[in-house]
Parts: sequence; C-alpha cells; structure tokens
Amino acid sequence: MKTINEIIKSKNRQKLTMLTCYDYSFARLISSCENAIDMILVGDSLSNVIKGDTSTVNCNIDDVIYHCRAVRRGAPDVFIVADMPFMSYQPSPRDAVINAGRLISEGGANAVKIEGGKAFLPHVRLIVDAGIPVMGHLGFTPQSVNMFGNSVVRGRKQNESDKILEDALLLEKEGVFSIVLECIPHILGKKVTEQLQIPTVGIGAGVDCDGQVLVIYDMLGISGGNFKFVKKFKNLDIEIIEGINQYACSVRNAEFPSEENSFR
Ligand code: KIV
Repeated sequence: MKTINEIIKSKNRQKLTMLTCYDYSFARLISSCENAIDMILVGDSLSNVIKGDTSTVNCNIDDVIYHCRAVRRGAPDVFIVADMPFMSYQPSPRDAVINAGRLISEGGANAVKIEGGKAFLPHVRLIVDAGIPVMGHLGFTPQSVNMFGNSVVRGRKQNESDKILEDALLLEKEGVFSIVLECIPHILGKKVTEQLQIPTVGIGAGVDCDGQVLVIYDMLGISGGNFKFVKKFKNLDIEIIEGINQYACSVRNAEFPSEENSFR
C-alpha cells in the first residue's frame, strides 16, 4: 500500500493513478492489477452510478461507510480515500472530524476527501490534527450543484480562476496531502499544479496534473455517461448485454443448465 509520504513524493516523479470503486468485486479486480492503481476513491458518485440519483447530495455517511467496507475487503492493500458526503462535514468542524473518524474506523479508509476551499479550512485542520489525511477537491464540486446549475466547467472567469488557486494554496497550508481538480481549463490545472508542493489529481483538468482519477464505470463504459473528460478504455456495456442475452437464450432453449452444471 502507498503511504502518504510516497503519494506526496510522487510529485514531479511519477503520475498518480486513482479510480473510484464501490464494491468488493471491482476492488478485488483493481487490487489484482499489481501496482497499477495508487489510490481508490470510494466516491459519493455512488449516488449516481450505484443508486441512480441525478446528484451526489442524496448520499449519506452510512452509504459511504457501507461501500468503503466492501471495497476494503476486496482491496486490503490499496490506499483508500473515502468521500465525505453532503452534510457530513459542512455543518461544523466537529461534525467533520466525527464523520471523518467513522470513515476511517468503521469504513476502513486511509484518508478522506472534502469538497470546497476557504470556508472549510477549520474543518480540514481539525481532521488533520486528529491524524486523518485529507484530500481537497476544487473546481467543479458536485455537492454544490444547486449553486452552480448546469455550468460544469469552473475557473474560466478570472475571479473564479483566482479563487481556485487561492483555495488550493490555503488547503495546502492547512495540511491536505493532495487536491482533486475537477473540470477546470487545462491551463489552470497546470498553473495550480505548478504552484503547489503537494500533488494534484485531475478529472477534466488536463494532462499537467500530477495524477488522474475517473469513475470506474465511466472508463469501462458501463455507466451510460458520455462526458468530454472521460475516455472509455473499454465498452463493457456491449459485452455485458451480450452475456445477459446469451444467458436468457440458453435458459429459454433449455441449453443451460447442461449436464456439466447439474449435480448427480
Ligand atoms: O465522487 C467521485 O467520484 C469524485 C470524483 C469525481 C473525483 O469525487
């Protein structure tokens, strides 16, 4: 398992790889790709891809703990970051540290991720002081969808771009070990990455970030989503549908179960 120090030291040496994961079976597959994936994110995107919700605000701390435990069983040796879901940290630093603690002790995570900047510095500080590594998340922050509306790309306007850079520097000072940059112009991704000592992990933030993260169902082609910042490395939807069709045909034609699948 990567340590926090190794993750931080990878900056300017080796790109960090991160994927979301929500269950035991995918976690087992990820961990069998030896050394391929540095960090797993048990993201609140589970709201979208597991529960079928349209935003991440419907995910709660018990949901993340439940999925985190399953992922930990499948990937005992991979560094796991657990998302702090909507309203698990926003109300107060005290809520933040209690819920971050639950993700570590009950979920089995190694670190937590928090969306937002300046407003949450006291929350970050308390969690870090409790000995829990924190990853920041700036740019498009899905839990604030009701503030942003449909505009996904953040930081195109000068004031927004200045704020993202300022927030990144403040979060770094407060002790986060890395920052996710989501859906910002690639030039801004480069600028933030160059100005920080800690690694950035991009999703729709260009190639100059220190690492990349994607939702595993998106990059394997099974989420039904089509996003500019995603590359489908596989089209598993086609294979899964084909497999289900073949199964249904075999059952209807009484070809399955065959003798070899039957007990004597
Ligand atoms: O929940 C999630 O999947 C995330 C990534 C988009 C970074 O936060």
